Amino acid sequence: MNVTRRTFLSASAAAMIGSILLPRNAQAAGYGLTAAPVTLPVVPGQPGTMLWGYNGSFPGPLLRVRQGERLRVALQNNLPQDTTIHWHGIRLPHAMDGVPGLTQLPVQPGESFVYEFDCADAGTFWYHPHAGNPEQVGRGLYGLLIVDEPDPPAVDRDVAWVLSDLRLDRGAQITGDFRNYMDVTHAGRLGNTALINGRLAQPYAVTAGERLRLRLVNTANARIFDLRFTDHAPWLVALDGHPLDAPQRLRSNDRVALGPGMRADLILDLTGEPGRRYPVLDRDFQGREHRLTDLAYGETPMAGAAGRAPRLAANPVAEPDLARAERLPLVLGGGMGVPYALRVDGGPVLDMREAFQKHRMAWSLNGQAMTDHAGHHGHEPLFRLKLGKSYILDVSNDTSRPHPLHLHGHVFRVLNQPGRPWRDTVLLQPGETAQLALLADNPGEWMLHCHILEHQAAGMMATVQVG
Ligand code: C2O
Ligand code: CU
Repeated sequence: MNVTRRTFLSASAAAMIGSILLPRNAQAAGYGLTAAPVTLPVVPGQPGTMLWGYNGSFPGPLLRVRQGERLRVALQNNLPQDTTIHWHGIRLPHAMDGVPGLTQLPVQPGESFVYEFDCADAGTFWYHPHAGNPEQVGRGLYGLLIVDEPDPPAVDRDVAWVLSDLRLDRGAQITGDFRNYMDVTHAGRLGNTALINGRLAQPYAVTAGERLRLRLVNTANARIFDLRFTDHAPWLVALDGHPLDAPQRLRSNDRVALGPGMRADLILDLTGEPGRRYPVLDRDFQGREHRLTDLAYGETPMAGAAGRAPRLAANPVAEPDLARAERLPLVLGGGMGVPYALRVDGGPVLDMREAFQKHRMAWSLNGQAMTDHAGHHGHEPLFRLKLGKSYILDVSNDTSRPHPLHLHGHVFRVLNQPGRPWRDTVLLQPGETAQLALLADNPGEWMLHCHILEHQAAGMMATVQVG
């Protein structure tokens, strides 16, 4: 059941207008994704940017299934290097997780691979390669995967902002300086051009009186988005796809922080005045606010679906047993600013200079740095969890940088955050700690890593064996 030429064309057309309007009742649960180079307009008035995309679009096509449905995707690799697809946040069987060397063989240029799995959880997810990550994601390979609730909340429009950035030169071309020393040892590859849905952020057209479901996804290599909707009070209803037990009302000074990999679903009532513009502000790592986009109101209001805060039904995630949970300390280490030592793939302890010069490693989990190669054969898991047992990861960030820590195959409750949300990725500021509770219920050896892809590539990565 490959995608037809017609749906292929309409997916590209949707990307052209820089806005993804999410069609209801998209029945197709079978897709084809061809990864290949493509040139598309990203910055108005500049020549097209050479990207790597799926089916000629950037971001890749929206994949959409109903909760409980099976998704089947045939990947064709027309890139000049190996690739895979990882289904970020989906709790699926290990063999479908898309980690080369760990869950499957890398898909070589010219080859294909079929992914097929059931989507038990509703929500906002995304997909991206897990091979040669910093470069492939940094060149634009990612897309949105939406799993629809059987009974979605009533809104006037269901829309997504795929938030990312690119590092472009003067001719609007992606710079080739992947994995350079500066990026790897500091904040990762921060782009210089912030994008919404694959285009330079433009004012976003809205109508007074309407209610939006706004799905935010951060697909950037390294940029943290920290958004504030001026003069609006959106409801935060889900994080990383999973509904909050109770929706949270955001006031004008509240922010939505999204590290790479993270998602948030908002219900946004457009309560502003017709004809006016309201900035959506982002805050950078130095604390400065700047305008990401505007909510640009049209002249004519409408009577929309506004009402009480919608409550989404919980996903079928099994609760960890907090009273019996075993605690596991997890220390994030390395990077510039704090002296450190680490072991590479279980080898001898190295100081920071040696670790980088010999192995290009700069970050660690519990003092261990894992290279890409080790993941491919006989690597020692950082933790061995018993199937059916509960655990609390006691995480501390002992570095001078924030890190979005991501676990595959499972979600965890973040015990130290309000409402104890389920998440698959948690952002830890420098010096911060977090308690992550989970039931180890999905057998296999799973990745645990920082989703700043340059940190992952430089050692902040491990595996967790379940069962
Ligand atoms: Cu979204 Cu292991 O990654
Ligand atoms: Cu990191």
